[in-house]
This record gives sequence, C-alpha cells and structure tokens, in this order.
Amino acid sequence: MELSEYRERFPILADTTYLISHSLGPMPAEAESRLAEYANAWNTRGARAWGEGWWDLPVTVGDQIARLIGAPPGSTVMHQNVTIAEAVVLSCFDLGGERNRIVYEEENFPSVRYLHQAQRGAEIVVCRDEEEIVAAIDERTLLVPISHVIFKSGRIQDVVPIIERAHEVGAHVVLDAYQSVGSVPLDVSALNVDFAVGGSVKWLCGGPGAGWLYVRPDLAETLEPTLVGWQAHARPFDFEPELEYAAGPWRFLTGTPNVPALYAATAGYDIVEEIGVERIRESSMRQTELLAGLLEEAGFEVVSPREPDRRGGSIVVRTPDFPAVHAELEAQGIICDFRPDAGLRLGPHFFNTNEELEYAVAAMREIVGSTSVSGRA
Ligand SMILES: Cc1ncc(COP(=O)(O)O)c(C=O)c1O
Repeated sequence: MELSEYRERFPILADTTYLISHSLGPMPAEAESRLAEYANAWNTRGARAWGEGWWDLPVTVGDQIARLIGAPPGSTVMHQNVTIAEAVVLSCFDLGGERNRIVYEEENFPSVRYLHQAQRGAEIVVCRDEEEIVAAIDERTLLVPISHVIFKSGRIQDVVPIIERAHEVGAHVVLDAYQSVGSVPLDVSALNVDFAVGGSVKWLCGGPGAGWLYVRPDLAETLEPTLVGWQAHARPFDFEPELEYAAGPWRFLTGTPNVPALYAATAGYDIVEEIGVERIRESSMRQTELLAGLLEEAGFEVVSPREPDRRGGSIVVRTPDFPAVHAELEAQGIICDFRPDAGLRLGPHFFNTNEELEYAVAAMREIVGSTSVSGRA
C-alpha cells in the first residue's frame, strides 16, 4: 500500500494540514470503533468483562508496544503516562544511601525533570548533553533519566555511551522514548537499556492515557517497587492482607487499569505495525529533509539537526514572532505548535504529502512577509 493511501484512515486529514504528530497524532477512524466496542462490552458484559480481557490489558497492550521497541513479550506494561511509569521506576530504589545521585539532562521533558527534582534525598546533577552526562556518571549515581529524541529540538541522542558508562558503575538508565517510538526505530534489547518509557499520544496515534514502561527482564525479578497496587500482587483476586509481588511485568503495575484508553490506543499501534517503523523512518527522513530545505530557502533558521541520522521526526524552526505565525497557520488549517525559546515545531508523519509541506512553508512565507506579525524573534 502507498503511504498516501493511509490518509483515509484518519478523518481529520481531510480538513487540515496536520503537522503535529510530535504532540498529538491524529485519531484513526478505527479508534472510534474500538471505543464503541469498549462501551458495548461494559454495557452487555458488565463485570464479566474483567475476566474477558479488561484486567489483562496493561500486559496484553504492553506486549504490542514491546514488538514496536524490540522488547520480548512480558517485559512492558501500560500506565497512564510517563510520569507514573518513571515514578514506578524510582520507587524501586532507595535514595537514602550513598548512591543517591540522579544524573539527568537539561533537555528532558518537564514531567521527567519535575518528578526527579521532587524526590526527597535525591542529589540532582543537571547536564547539557551526552558528553556531560557520560562525564557526570560515577559510583554515586543511581539513575540516569534521559531522552532518546529531545522534545524541543527533535535531536536524536546517542544513548549508547551513556548506557555503557552507567553500567560500568552500576547505575541504571531510564530512557524516555516518547518522541521516537513510532517514528524513529528503537531496540531496547540491543541497547541493553534498563528501563524505557513512553506514551501513545504522539507518533503512535494512540491518544491520551496509554503510557508504557519497559523493564529489562533479568532486572525485573530483582526489583520491588513501592509504588504498587493490587495488580502487582501474585494473587490479586485472593485479596490477601500482605503484599506478595507478582512475577514478570505485573509487579510494575498499580491499581485498576485505564480500560477505555487502552482500547483506543491499539488502533494507532496497529497501523504503525502494519507499515513498520523502518518504512516510516525512511519517509520521515525524506520529508524532514525536504521541509528543512524549503524552510531554509524561505529564509528561516532551522534549529533541528541537519544531519539525517541525528534528526528525529520533527523540524523546529525560528521565524519572527513564532507564536503569532503559529496562530495564523492554525487559522488557515495548518496544525503545528511551538515551544517557548525554541521555535515552531512541524512534525510530518507517514500520511503527510510533499505538497502539504510545500503548502505549509508557502503559508509561512506569506504570513511572515505580511504585516500581521511583529519583528520579535
Ligand atoms: C519526551 C517526552 N516525554 C514525556 C512527555 C509527556 O509526559 P507525560 O506522559 O508524563 O505527560 C512528552 C510530551 O508530552 C515528551 O515529549
């Protein structure tokens, strides 16, 4: 199937130039049917639905994510978001000892920054880039939360030296792959990373409420998270008074799962799996190259890396007064976003056409050339 043929599976593409999959991927029409299926199960099966798949969803849906990230079955579970997934990881460790350092990067997403900053007893070491992270990791380092693709610039980070250094000194790496999975290939097994997290709202076109957590299988059995609920128990339906950890990925779960979100999310994953992330990446590399070239030709400064293998799925570009340019684009049905101090973010995905990119850049040229925006950078 041609990639453009997938357009009809996303109704919003008929009315907009949709360039914001780095923020919220479009809804597949199938997600609506899945939500109707959920409502029907609730309505007709009632409490029996728990035993007919609902209870297991965090693990069965997690297995589908596992296929997309190069992880084995039974290693990945679903949570509401990255914050909760990383909080479960943190809860596996004791910050009260000598090893209480968290080495993280400045460019981590705020959820990740805030969560770690808020931990009592943690000594936070903030780094600017890969080199600084590698240099900062030492015997007192407990965790190294980093991003695979940086959200503000779309830069792909070389995480291999970070993971190697962390393992040399007995520290653990938590890789936030939200901005890569579904757009940039990721193989957590080949990387030998300890933990990986992400979610569904962006390149996976899975909607909100479906975050995920991968734990390296050989590590999983040795960890005892303190952020647990009854899904983490070996026999949840015995309602025993004392905690006994479940085996495998279940011990990293909390309470009642977010059933409707998990129904909706797999519609997007199915399409991404059907196409294959390698094919999506090829198209993305071609389109981000085209887009960056068009933007530069138009006289704008492209902030994202120009080297193809360092560039994730989105292009960040500076224009004069980019909040105003963004508002004008939106008024014309060209959907993108901006981040303060960074610039406009344009994220073509597999369904976008080259003509849409040309159309968006022509609109930007015209907006900036008009008097409707000030000269503020
Ligand atoms: C790299 C990255 N991590 C995490 C998040 C979201 O975190 P949470 O799932 O806690 O909302 C985003 C964007 O929303 C992101 O770009």
